[in-house]
Order: sequence, then C-alpha cells, then structure tokens
Amino acid sequence: MAKIVAILLVGYFVGILADDPKTGKYYCDAYTDPNPLFNNGVAPKNLEDGRLPTTIEPVHYDLEIRPDIYTGQPPFINTGHVDIIMRPMVATNQIVLNYESLTLFDDTMRLASIDSPNPAPSIVGWGVLPDLDFLVITLDSDLVPGTAYSFSVTFAGELVTAAVRGGLYWDTYVKNGETIYVIGSQLQRIYARRIFPVFDEPSFKATFNITIGRKAPYSAVGNGALLESEEVEDGWVLDHFESTPHMSCYLLAFVVVDFGYLETVTPSGTVSRLWVRDDALEAAEFSNNIIGPITEWLESYTDYRNIIPIVDHVVLPTHSGAMENWGLIIYGESSMLWNETWYSAHYRSTTAYIIGHELAHFWFGNLVTCDWWSDTWLNEGFASYFESKSLEPLAWKPSEMTYHLRVKGMFRSDTISTSYPVRPTIVTPWEAPNAFTTSSYSKGASMLRMIETIMTPETFKRAIQLYLRDFQFSNAVTDDLWAVLTHQAAQDGITDPDGSPLDLKERFDPWVLQSGYPLIRTIRNYETGSLTLSQKQFNPNDEEWPDSEFDYSWHVPISILNEDDESITPRLVTWMSRVPAIVLDESMPSETNEWYLVNPGTRFFYRVQYDSQNMANLNRQLNEDHLVFDVETRAALIEDTFALARAGVLTLVDGFETSLYLKAETEGVPWLTFDYYQPYIALILRRFPATNDLYRSFIRETVRPVYESKGWDFDWDEDIYQEMAVRLSCTNDNTNCLLTNAIRFNAWKELPASQNPVVVGLRPSFYCTAVRRGDAADWTAIYNRYKEDAGTSHLPFDSIEKRTLLESLACSANVQVLQDYLVNLYDDDFVGLADKSAAMESLASSITGRDVVWEHLRQNWRKEPVPSGVSSSVIFHTVVEGFASEADELELIQFVARYPPENATEEALYDRAAEILSENQKWANLNVNALHDWLSSNVMD
Ligand SMILES: *[C@@H]1O[C@H](CO)[C@@H](O)[C@H](O)[C@H]1NC(C)=O
Ligand SMILES: *[C@@H]1O[C@H](CO)[C@@H](O)[C@H](O)[C@H]1NC(C)=O
Ligand SMILES: *[C@@H]1O[C@H](CO)[C@@H](O)[C@H](O)[C@H]1NC(C)=O
Repeated sequence: MAKIVAILLVGYFVGILADDPKTGKYYCDAYTDPNPLFNNGVAPKNLEDGRLPTTIEPVHYDLEIRPDIYTGQPPFINTGHVDIIMRPMVATNQIVLNYESLTLFDDTMRLASIDSPNPAPSIVGWGVLPDLDFLVITLDSDLVPGTAYSFSVTFAGELVTAAVRGGLYWDTYVKNGETIYVIGSQLQRIYARRIFPVFDEPSFKATFNITIGRKAPYSAVGNGALLESEEVEDGWVLDHFESTPHMSCYLLAFVVVDFGYLETVTPSGTVSRLWVRDDALEAAEFSNNIIGPITEWLESYTDYRNIIPIVDHVVLPTHSGAMENWGLIIYGESSMLWNETWYSAHYRSTTAYIIGHELAHFWFGNLVTCDWWSDTWLNEGFASYFESKSLEPLAWKPSEMTYHLRVKGMFRSDTISTSYPVRPTIVTPWEAPNAFTTSSYSKGASMLRMIETIMTPETFKRAIQLYLRDFQFSNAVTDDLWAVLTHQAAQDGITDPDGSPLDLKERFDPWVLQSGYPLIRTIRNYETGSLTLSQKQFNPNDEEWPDSEFDYSWHVPISILNEDDESITPRLVTWMSRVPAIVLDESMPSETNEWYLVNPGTRFFYRVQYDSQNMANLNRQLNEDHLVFDVETRAALIEDTFALARAGVLTLVDGFETSLYLKAETEGVPWLTFDYYQPYIALILRRFPATNDLYRSFIRETVRPVYESKGWDFDWDEDIYQEMAVRLSCTNDNTNCLLTNAIRFNAWKELPASQNPVVVGLRPSFYCTAVRRGDAADWTAIYNRYKEDAGTSHLPFDSIEKRTLLESLACSANVQVLQDYLVNLYDDDFVGLADKSAAMESLASSITGRDVVWEHLRQNWRKEPVPSGVSSSVIFHTVVEGFASEADELELIQFVARYPPENATEEALYDRAAEILSENQKWANLNVNALHDWLSSNVMD
C-alpha cells in the first residue's frame, strides 16, 4: 500500500464540522490556505515519512466508544470520547497524533495540566494532514518537559464492513432467520487511528481504561475484565473494563455480540472464555478444550505466568485469520470451529496452530513488542516458532506434519528475487505489510530453530526468559535479541566450535537482513579423506537479486554425521564464515561406500547437494534401513533431490532414486514432501502416455503399503497422509481403492447429506473418482447434491463441501459429459456466478477437461470463449499450463495464426503461453526418456 506523502490541509485553525442533513454523515470543510500550523505551510521534515515525532509520549488513555448498531441497518456511526494523558520529552508547542477519517468536535477539545499548578497552554488551532494521517494541535506556548497533560476530544466515525477489516467494523450472521449485527475490530497495523485520535505506533505504549457502550441484549467485550455496567440514557449501558497492561494501541479490541461463551481455567488461574454464537457453541468445544493446555505450556516455558488474568477468545462470523489483541483474541469462524462430521482432522490441527500462535503472541508481541514494523519478526517469528512447540502437551502427530510443511513452504518460496528478508527495512507506516510476509513468520521461526540448535535448548530457553524480563511492557529491536542471546551463551559457556565466543549478531545478521539462503555443495575426496564444502545462493531461476550488503553469502553452521559415528546427535562442527568454500580434514567415514550426512535433522536453513558417490551411499542406506536417519533427514533428502532436479541441477531420475525407499516409509513427512513434487510431473507426463502408464504404476505400487495401512476410516492423527494415500491410489487405479470408492459411492447416493459414508478429508478424492469412473447418472447425482441448499448450519463448512462437489464435476473422463457441462456453464441458473470461475478453472485443469476446454476456446475465441464472469485469459493460461507435446505446440501456433493478437494484452497472453510451453518442453526433453528407462526397470507390477 503506497500513500503519496503530500502536505495538504483540510480544516485549518478551527476545524469546521457540520452534520449533513441529507446523508447524516459528519464531514470536515476543506480549505486550501497555506497551513499556519507549520512554518509557512511546510511541515517539519521529520513528519513527511508518516512517523510521529518523539517529542511527546502517551501515558494513559481513557477511551469511551458507543458504536450504534441499533438503527436497523448500516451505515452505523460510532461516537466516542478520549482523554489522553501525555508527557512531553522536550519543550514543544505542537501535539501530533494519528487520525484517519474521523470527525472531531472542535468545541470539546481541551488541554489541561495534571500534576502542575500552572495552567496548560491554550490551543490556538488544529489541522489535519490526511495524506499523513496526522492531527496537529498548535499551542500558544510550549509544554513543559516532564509535566503531565491531559488532552481530550469528542469524535465520531463510521463503522466499516467486515470485509474492510481495518478499524471498528460490523459483521452479520443469521439467527432464526433474522439478520443479527455484531461488532468487531482490527487495529493492527495502523487502524487504531480510524477509531480515535492516538499515538498509533507500536513503541508508543500506554495503559488504557476502556468503556464500551451497548444496548441489551448485547454484551460488550474489552481487553480487560468487566468492572461494572452503568445504565445511562436511551437504553445505553456503559461497560467499564479494567485497565490494560502498558501496551501498544494496535492490541486494543472492541467487541459487541449477542453470544454465549464456554469457560476454562488453567492451574495458574488464567480464565479463558470462548465466545461464539449459540448455534456454534458445540462446535467450539474442541478449541475450548485445548486453550488451557496450550496456555499452561507457554506459561511454563516462559516462566511468566498469568500476565493477563482473563483472556477472551471471540469467534466472529467473517473475520479472516486471527488477531492477538491482548486479552481479547478475535478469530474467524473458519479458524475456530471444528466438528469431525464437517471438517477434516487437518482443520483441527490448523485450529490448534492458530490458537498456539495467538497465545504465544501474549509474550512475544504483546509483552515485548517490536519497536517498529521493521522488526515484526520479533513478534511473528517467535509466535510461529512457539505455535508448534506449544502444542507439545497435545502430543499430536499432525502438528509435526503441518509444521514441516509450513517451513518447507518458506524454503520453497525464498528462492525468488522478490522475497523479503526476515527483517526488511520499513520506512513509512504504509509499507508495514512488507514486514508481514512468510519471511518474518516461517523463516523467522526457522532462524530461531537454528539458534536453539546451536545454543542448546536449555540455554536458548534461559535466554528467552531473560529477553522477556528485560523488555517486558516495552519494545525491542533485533539487536536487543542478539545481545541477550550472546550474553546467555557466554554465561552458559556456549562457544563456537573453535572455542571463541559465540556472537549472534555477527552470525545471524546475514540470515535476517538479506533474503534467500545457500545451497551447500559437498565433495568428498575419496583418496585423501577430506571434504570440500562450498556455498552459493540457491537461485533456481537464475534471477538478478537486489543488492545486499552481505553479497548473498552466509555464516553457515555445518553439522556432520557419518556412518561410522556412534552418536546420532547432530553437533556443530564448524562455521563456513561467509567464505565461498572450506576444506575439512576430518570426520569422513573409513570406507568409500559409507555415507556422510550434512545438516542431519535438517535443523539449519539450507539445501545440500552431495557428490554422486555419497548420494549413492545415502540411497543405499535408505533402501537397506531408512530408520538409521530420523524422519526429518529422510524428508530433507527427498526435498533436496527433487528441488535440485526441478532446478535442473540434478535429474528427475536422481529424485526417483532417492524416493525408491518410500515403499517402506511409514511416516507422513517424507511422503508428503515427495507428494509436493508430483503434480507437475503427473501433469506433463499426461502428454507422454507410455511413460505416464509406467509412472502411474510406480506411484500406485509405491504407495500401496501406506494405502493398505491407512484405509478409509477416520484417522485422527494422520489424515493429510491418509488423504494422500487414498488420492494417489484411486487416481492411479489401485483396484481396492476403486472398489471401495464405488461401494461407498453407492451408499452415498442413498443417504442424506448429513450421513456421508466418507470422512471429510477424503471427499475431494472420493467425489472425483466417483465422477471419473462413473456414468452420466453419477455425474448428475453429484451435481444435484451440489445444487441442494445444505443451508442448515450457515457454518463455514457448507461452502467447503459445496466447492468440493462442484470441483469434482470436472473429473469426468467422458468427453460428451464435459462438453455438455461446459455449455451449461453459460447458464447462470446451472452454476451461480459466485462459483463459475472455480467451475471453469477446475474443468480447464482436469485430465479430460483440458482438451475439451481447449477445443472450445479454439472454436469460440472471438465469440464468447468463456461464460460471463469468468476471465478468458485465466482459462487460456490454465489450459496451456498442461501443454508439452509437439501436437500442443502445433495447435498453439495455429491458434495464434487464426486469432492474431488484437492488442498488447493479448500479445502478452500469447507470449506467456509460448513461454510456458517451452519451459514444459525443456523439462520433458531433459527428463522423459531417462525417466521412462528408469521406470521400466523399477516398476514392479
Ligand atoms: C483506570 O481504571 C482503573 C481500574 O482498572 C482505576 O483504578 C484507575 O484509576 C483508572 N485510571 C484513570 C486515569 O482513570
Ligand atoms: C457435530 O455435528 C453433528 C451434525 O451436525 C452433530 O450432531 C454433533 O453433535 C456435532 N458434534 C460436535 C462436537 O459439535
Ligand atoms: C484486447 O483484445 C481482446 C480481444 O479483442 C479484448 O477482449 C480485450 O478486451 C482487449 N483488451 C484491452 C485491454 O483492450
């Protein structure tokens, strides 16, 4: 989000306010005079980046709001009053606050002295700088440093919709057929200013006494415990809340709902209440049951208990994601409700992650807050790290898988030149979103994992406890964290392997201040026994990256394990200290055919490419006894060979060589890593039928043992793994899978929607297989179920099930059925507008549908190539993504000849299509023949 920073004056000196009789909205009259508040209309230079001057600090706010949703329908107006106690640090005659789209009532503006007998300076004028979100108040004389003043004003503003999600918003749900309005809020990153005039930066911490006005039968929820309710005029009740801790204003939250709640109490006495609408209370049981154990784990790890005695968790209908407001976490229904008859078990672990993440923020983010958004990773990296650690008391397998997949997700995306560093430089508040990327979250968490490994878990934990104590109720920057970690390492005698002091800043600045990560290539000299390791940024697309002060080199921690070693505990052997290569003379196994392993347990954030002899040795070990390696190491071996094959550094056959052992693999993580790389291979091989047949047999037979052990019944722990096994088995025609699918589908047709014979996680594969193997009547059965309005619960699951049914319609192998479907998609009654794009995209990317859609585009490109509401270029692009054969190339050339581009947009679309085709062909030329030969000798039928 970029804002043009320009000085523009609206309503100078005396803000002119009026109540527009037509719209009922308040507005400010606009003036264009030079601004007398500043020297000749020029704002002080340091204000131009949208950062507040540091001349005054807030101490306490008394804030009262009365959001009025009792008028029947939007727009809804909030009126409020704020009294800010502040202390100047220097003599100044200007007060600068943040403010956005509020109406201020001029005659209510007051400045008073608090702890001095001398009267406060008088307000001589005020103005707003809308481009900077500033409210500037000018005084007739200077404020006296060290003295406390109170500034107060009454204001009004409009509630935004839940979709805007910045500030105070209204949301709705349906209860007994009636639309009910409720109120929620989202203040991070810079939306407190949309609710009241405020020092809206994370380092301007203060305490807040909040009062929320509401009417019966609603309840108000604030950051603190409810102190008292006071009945005032017009049916308003003012709920007064206990003072908040000293905190950043983005952690405030305001909720007005007609919900009930579930309650739990931890052994240390922290009360948690989970608020949700009545219909969904039962579905919130699961979340309610895990809040306690997670809270307890975090209290014990941080040795910091009960910071906030009452924690409200509020589930609002359409809030997306979740926000860690201190003492008042707000979630969306889709992240907090869970019921095994509606959701897959995977959703359950996602829910646990979200709760763990938000609760971890109470210590990492709320108690100790990033000083400015540049250091967001101190909030998000820690919360992401502890979101999985804090699930320890639940003893779940899926959390392991989810964590692994998330980290791998970052690992896979931190390879493009637009990737942000963990700690980016944020100048203006409007650039803050650049600090909320997977870099600050997942890569930040990976950095902490590296540090924990290097320092040992005990020392790391002590350092974290110290960091929380040192910076509690205050703010920190990355260097503060480095200093605490370095100090604790020295205290505990943790040094570098050569005995020199461990300096975290020196070691880790290159990791957090630049994006990307290294590929470590290792070459063992089998004559002399030495090992050469070199580092180079992993840059699979050969891109130009932005300049970096560290030139994309890193201090790389090297740990090595080899076949001779007695202990399997990874140990730090040395640092490759920002040099291109090092030679190690020790720690190689005695025999040529024995393996060595770099980064065992894959605790450090880099990839490894081994010399080919060693890769063969590792593969031999995997096939003989893969349990010699821990599960993460097995996954990493698969991940690296396939990623390097995709980048053209290794071949696809190398990847498959490593994956050969999978038929004996019973853990999910290595399998899911393998599965991640299959869709592209499967997609391109469809254009090479003979190889595709071999490939399908290979996958089917390799996954068979997993399929047979997982089966179809509800699996609490490993459902994404089970889902994969059933999907790969049915897609590749495992006889038992097809039979089971058919039997269950026959049962499904006879049963009502509420009694589905297949668990939720398996349904995408189940419906798709039923359609693919079925006839037109089966297709119609699914279509009819899609059309039935489930509409009983109004819970988010309904739409997920509907989407699953819809997308399976594209799976048919019958060309006629798909052609009819495509024609029907032009009819809005057949599939509604909201679902049309998804329907077309699933058709264009399905095995048989791709060619059906392509034929249709070829005939109709200048007529109506896609139904209205669908993007023809998106569909064109989707079809072409699966092109790889010579026939495809010829057809694309003919297409362009028949429909020459009519403008630059269309030309770009054609060019991109040609590029995709050529990339796919390049991959196929490189891999298909070799893979064919390899599969021929490795497929066991
Ligand atoms: C804020 O509320 C607390 C009670 O939680 C009260 O003791 C305190 O006096 C209030 N502060 C101000 C400035 O009104
Ligand atoms: C789950 O949903 C089903 C069907 O709507 C309901 O019968 C059951 O009580 C629910 N269970 C929980 C724990 O919410
Ligand atoms: C480009 O031409 C295509 C085909 O005539 C048309 O559908 C599209 O709207 C045009 N786009 C622009 C930006 O003019």
